[in-house]
This record gives sequence, C-alpha cells and structure tokens, in this order.
Amino acid sequence: MAKSIRILVGTVTGTAELVAEEVQPVLEEAGYRVEVMDLDGQEPAVLSGPDFILVCTSTYGQGDVPDNAIDFFDALEAGRPDLSSLRYGLIGLGDSTYADTYNQGCQRFDALFTELGGRRIGETMTHNASSDELPEEAGVEWARQWLVELNA
Ligand SMILES: Cc1cc2nc3c(=O)[nH]c(=O)nc-3n(C[C@H](O)[C@H](O)[C@H](O)COP(=O)(O)O)c2cc1C
Repeated sequence: MAKSIRILVGTVTGTAELVAEEVQPVLEEAGYRVEVMDLDGQEPAVLSGPDFILVCTSTYGQGDVPDNAIDFFDALEAGRPDLSSLRYGLIGLGDSTYADTYNQGCQRFDALFTELGGRRIGETMTHNASSDELPEEAGVEWARQWLVELNA
C-alpha cells in the first residue's frame, strides 16, 4: 500500500496553506497518499497514523507559532507524548525583517518534536518573505529533494 503523508498547516494569512497545496501534488505524483490539514483544533494524536508528517508553518509574534497552531503546540508541550515513531519534515515561512525571530515558529516545532523523540527527515525549508523567491515555488523545489530523502 502507498505510504502516507499528512501535511499540517500553521498559518494566519494563508501563505503556508498555499505552499502545502502546491507541495501536495508533487508528493502524490511520487506515489504517496497525501492529506492537508489545518492545525486549528487538532490534538497531538493527529501526529500518529500516517507514515510521515510535514509541518508547514509561518512565524508570528515574538517568534511564535501562528494563532491556529498555538493550542496544538501548547497541548504537545504540556502532554509530552512519546513521539519516537514520528518521522517528520518541516517547511517554515518567515521574514528576515524580524531578524531576532526569523523562522522561529518552525524551529520551535523542530525542537519540541526532537525533544519528544521524533526524527526529522531532510533539511528544513525556510522561506524569507523579504526575498524575491515565491514560497510555493520554493516549496515544490524543496519537496522534490525531500522525496529523495523519504525514499532513501
Ligand atoms: C505581525 C507579523 C509578525 C511576524 N513575525 C515574524 C517573526 O517573528 N519571524 C519571522 O520570521 N516572520 C514573521 N512574520 C512574517 C510571516 O511569518 C511571513 O510573512 C509568512 O510568509 C506568513 O505566512 P502565512 O500567510 O502562512 O501566515 C510576521 C508577519 C507579521 C504580519
């Protein structure tokens, strides 16, 4: 049976969702079953089930995860579930104008998942909104590289 990937989206103004929607078909064309879910209202159990989790999130506030991801992140921090079977990838959207907190929302996920036993696959993608690069194009390019790591 085809392996599955669940993409979890943390966003305020929809950029991360757009990136997830562009990445989804790239992964599907490679033979994976892929679903995209908003992090709003999700429990930590959403991390179990699929073979791989891909968190696609922006950063707000003082390097925080976006509003729709706060409850989920807090629940993970408080409940500290065993994530030793978690294999995940990360796409972070930020803006280098926020020099002190650049892409920290995504880094917070990385640190917490690792602390709870999860294993990241591949390098984290970080997009800078102050660059000329389109986030969805960067996402598609990154996803092709991530597939190489997933298939390894
Ligand atoms: C009020 C506000 C605060 C932000 N804070 C940060 C930040 O601390 N660090 C960072 O890297 N980007 C920050 N950003 C940039 C966003 O993360 C970036 O524009 C991202 O592409 C937005 O993605 P989204 O549409 O999925 O929410 C901030 C943007 C706004 C509007």
